[in-house]
Amino acid sequence: MFYVFFISCVFICHGFLMDSKTQPPPTAGSLMTDDHYQFVMQFIFQERQSRLQLEKYVKQLQQELVTTKADLTTEINGLKQCGCASNIKNKTSILQNEFNILKQDHDALKIKYENFQKELNRTNNRSIMLENEMSLLRQLKSVSDLKVIFDLQNKTKHLEQEIQATNSRQQAINSEASARKQDFLALYQKVQISETEIQSNNLSFGIQTKQMERRILEVNERYDNKTKQISRTLGTIESSMQNRITALSTKLNGQILNIQKGQNDTANRALFTASGSGTISKGSVIPFKKVHTSHGIKNLSSVNNSGIFTVEKEGYYLISCFVNTNTANAEFDIRHNSISIASATKHGDSGLETHAATITAHLNVGDIVKVTARNTMAVDSAPDSMLTVVQII
Ligand SMILES: *[C@@H]1O[C@H](CO)[C@@H](O)[C@H](O)[C@H]1NC(C)=O
Ligand SMILES: *[C@@H]1O[C@H](CO)[C@@H](O)[C@H](O)[C@H]1NC(C)=O
Ligand SMILES: *[C@@H]1O[C@H](CO)[C@@H](O)[C@H](O)[C@H]1NC(C)=O
Ligand SMILES: *[C@@H]1O[C@H](CO)[C@@H](O)[C@H](O)[C@H]1NC(C)=O
Ligand SMILES: *[C@@H]1O[C@H](CO)[C@@H](O)[C@H](O)[C@H]1NC(C)=O
Ligand SMILES: *[C@@H]1O[C@H](CO)[C@@H](O)[C@H](O)[C@H]1NC(C)=O
Ligand SMILES: *[C@@H]1O[C@H](CO)[C@@H](O)[C@H](O)[C@H]1NC(C)=O
Ligand SMILES: *[C@@H]1O[C@H](CO)[C@@H](O)[C@H](O)[C@H]1NC(C)=O
Ligand SMILES: *[C@@H]1O[C@H](CO)[C@@H](O)[C@H](O)[C@H]1NC(C)=O
Repeated sequence: MFYVFFISCVFICHGFLMDSKTQPPPTAGSLMTDDHYQFVMQFIFQERQSRLQLEKYVKQLQQELVTTKADLTTEINGLKQCGCASNIKNKTSILQNEFNILKQDHDALKIKYENFQKELNRTNNRSIMLENEMSLLRQLKSVSDLKVIFDLQNKTKHLEQEIQATNSRQQAINSEASARKQDFLALYQKVQISETEIQSNNLSFGIQTKQMERRILEVNERYDNKTKQISRTLGTIESSMQNRITALSTKLNGQILNIQKGQNDTANRALFTASGSGTISKGSVIPFKKVHTSHGIKNLSSVNNSGIFTVEKEGYYLISCFVNTNTANAEFDIRHNSISIASATKHGDSGLETHAATITAHLNVGDIVKVTARNTMAVDSAPDSMLTVVQII
């Protein structure tokens, strides 16, 4: 900063010293010409002149300073001799003190003034308000004749009456409310009693419920047991029934087979008719060998061969035999095995005659049926002599 100031001072001094007589310096970079030289010389000359002037001025100032100094000392001495300086100082301090006191007073006054101003403003406000109220009162006065006031009084009375009525009503309501309160309390007590009862009932109900549940469980278990028993019994019954049914069915099947067998037996009842002829010696079998009709007999070989029937099925049989002969005392027997069970006889006559014997007999399997001559006799051929055996039952 100092340098800047110094440089600026130098330039200003130059400006001041050079005035307008000096020409501007030639441009830099070119060689030193005569113009330059003249310029520098001029500059030096001017510089010297300025310096002389400055020295003259400084000397003048020094003289003035010396004279002033002398004047000042004489003045000070004068003042010192009369003692006015201390007096002035003393007065100044007194004045200062008084000024201070005055300033304090002024400040206090200022504050008071401000307070007063505020008070005044408030008072103004109040007066404005009062004015307003006054105007209102004036208006009221203009409106308010006696009638209005009476009306107001009447209304007020009416209102009072209404208020009294309301009060009495409120009292009634209060008393009713207190009565309701009593009722409510009674009700509440009842509710409490009911609640305790309900709780006790609930307890007993819970116990009963548990008992019932236990009982239900027992009953369920019993029911299960019973059901199981019943199912078991049912199973046994079913199996026995099944057994019985199978037995019955086998029995029935047997019966059916029997019935079928009976039917078969009935359908296949044995019967045959055979014829035979020749001269038959005493005690011989008449050979009814020629079978005309036969049914229900499996093996006819014995009939075919000898005229003897071998019983294959047990039952009741009809045995019928007729013989045509010209032998005078012809006689024959139907024999069951060896026993004669029926016979026919002819006596004293040599003409051809037919004699017959018929009988029913119970025959067993393996029994034999035959017709034998009691005497030697002739037997005519078919269809005059025949043996018929029929199973009846
Ligand atoms: C300053 O004034 C006071 C009273 O005003 C006085 O008592 C005192 O002596 C004075 N001082 C001088 C130096 O005059
Ligand atoms: C008092 O009121 C005047 C205007 O009416 C206002 O200028 C002033 O500031 C008020 N002063 C105070 C202390 O309120
Ligand atoms: C005076 O009244 C005006 C309004 O009416 C209010 O704004 C103001 O603050 C009041 N001044 C005082 C000092 O009460
Ligand atoms: C007061 O009012 C009642 C009805 O509310 C009316 O009968 C009566 O005359 C009134 N009295 C006056 C003095 O206006
Ligand atoms: C009744 O008992 C059951 C339990 O056993 C309980 O949960 C229920 O709150 C009870 N009720 C009352 C009204 O006491
Ligand atoms: C049910 O049967 C079981 C065993 O089969 C037995 O222990 C139980 O006591 C029975 N319950 C009843 C209620 O009879
Ligand atoms: C009955 O006879 C028929 C043939 O005639 C035979 O097939 C069947 O087995 C017989 N039944 C019995 C029970 O003998
Ligand atoms: C028995 O004779 C009949 C008829 O003459 C015949 O059909 C049958 O085959 C004979 N049976 C036997 C075993 O000779
Ligand atoms: C038939 O009967 C005779 C004797 O009566 C017997 O010798 C024969 O073997 C029988 N035939 C059959 C097929 O049973």
